[in-house]
Amino acid sequence: MRLAVRRLLAVRRAAPRTLRCSARALSDKVSFTFVEEGEEVPVAVEHGKTLLEAAHANEVDLEGACDGSLACSTCHLILEQELYDQLPPPEEEELDMLDLAFGLTDTSRLGCQLKVGPEFEGAKFTLPGPDT
Ligand code: FES
Repeated sequence: MRLAVRRLLAVRRAAPRTLRCSARALSDKVSFTFVEEGEEVPVAVEHGKTLLEAAHANEVDLEGACDGSLACSTCHLILEQELYDQLPPPEEEELDMLDLAFGLTDTSRLGCQLKVGPEFEGAKFTLPGPDT
């Protein structure tokens, strides 16, 4: 009985903090940077948007010719190694399209396949170009 009361009290104490964190995580935007031809474009984007949507909403010239249907590689972005290592690996279909991408690197991903999450905070996403 005493153990059950302790657990209940622990849950009651923890709940407000958990709810507060969840509410903040859902409402806050994530700040990160696109690097386009060497120029940094800082953005703040809602959780769950794709990087392609984030680029278009912020006038970053990331093409996305197939609108995210994995039929092109024009949404190719280069990630920083640390972030790349944190993300789930690309699916086979994404890897197939990446094989066709201009300027492919070891940390390349397709912007239409990555959804903005808290791990993107402070990250840089580079559009491939002649200097990359
Ligand atoms: S927009 Fe075509 S694969 Fe991403």
